[in-house]
Amino acid sequence: MKDFEKVKILLTGSTGFVGSFFKKELSSSNVISTSKSGGKGVLPVDLTNNEELVSLFESVKPEVLIHIAGNKDVNFCEKFPKDARQINVTATQYLVELCKQYGTKFVYLSTDYVFDGKKGNYSEIDIPLPSSEYGKMKLESEKMIQSSGIEHIIIRSGALYGQNGKFYQWAVNSLKEGIEIEALIDSFFTPTLLDDLYEITVKLLVLNFNGIIHIVGKDKVSRYQMISKIADSLAILNPKLKPMTISESGMFFLPDLSLCPDKLNKELKIYTHTLEEGLKFLVSSF
Ligand SMILES: NC(=O)c1ccc[n+]([C@@H]2O[C@H](COP(=O)([O-])OP(=O)(O)OC[C@H]3O[C@@H](n4cnc5c(N)ncnc54)[C@H](OP(=O)(O)O)[C@@H]3O)[C@@H](O)[C@H]2O)c1
Repeated sequence: MKDFEKVKILLTGSTGFVGSFFKKELSSSNVISTSKSGGKGVLPVDLTNNEELVSLFESVKPEVLIHIAGNKDVNFCEKFPKDARQINVTATQYLVELCKQYGTKFVYLSTDYVFDGKKGNYSEIDIPLPSSEYGKMKLESEKMIQSSGIEHIIIRSGALYGQNGKFYQWAVNSLKEGIEIEALIDSFFTPTLLDDLYEITVKLLVLNFNGIIHIVGKDKVSRYQMISKIADSLAILNPKLKPMTISESGMFFLPDLSLCPDKLNKELKIYTHTLEEGLKFLVSSF
């Protein structure tokens, strides 16, 4: 790929947790940032409106699309699948067609929820079998991109954490205020530092990578272990943590959604941070 900073990029989801981080990091690049409602330096574009997309592509003619916008609210997707499909599937369909037309490379942010969450440590060759509407929609989008013939990078990640993440901030505040936290001990995932996701996405683009890849942190943990590690990173010695099981919670949680980053590590020699390193980094950047 030519000089990355010169590549014309179209970014979606730029007001969200993940997209706003990408927008900030891409500030010295040739990027057009968009979201539904827009904002400072963010163009308002409704991705479910094909006419808006057609004129956007006509004026921007992006070389790379980084499509981060989506509805990741698992409960909302379960209750209102028709509504959620609009942004999670229909928008992808419109974008795929336009990428085909304009020769744009499609970078798609997918999720660990494409798997059934039973065995964990899923690699790129494991067969996805989503057990939620959200996972089904994300998988449908992945398949549309893969079968379209366009240049693409499908990134599966999970449990992203960073300075402005709701879960991280909630855990930090609760721990600092000494509030008791009930945390699951039997639901596992691979938390991923947002900085790692961004930096590796750029590396993959520079390397002209094409295909599907798992980008996750080095450690598989339960929610209980994650919060304990956050407490450690803040030097909180006796956090008020109450262990809980999925069945005691009475809520929908999957036992193990962890992803395996072996392809990233072994084939591309690219590595993410451990959870301890990531949390230490966040504390030091406050
Ligand atoms: N967060 C994670 O841990 C994680 C892990 C793996 C994958 N992902 C994927 O990353 C994506 C974003 O996650 P997030 O945590 O950043 O979500 P988020 O904070 O809820 O942000 C969602 C973004 O999507 C935009 N959007 C929603 N509907 C739109 C529409 N019709 N037209 C244009 N833009 C629209 C929103 O724009 P407005 O603010 O203007 O409404 C917002 O910028 C999701 O697709 C999710 O599947 C997230």
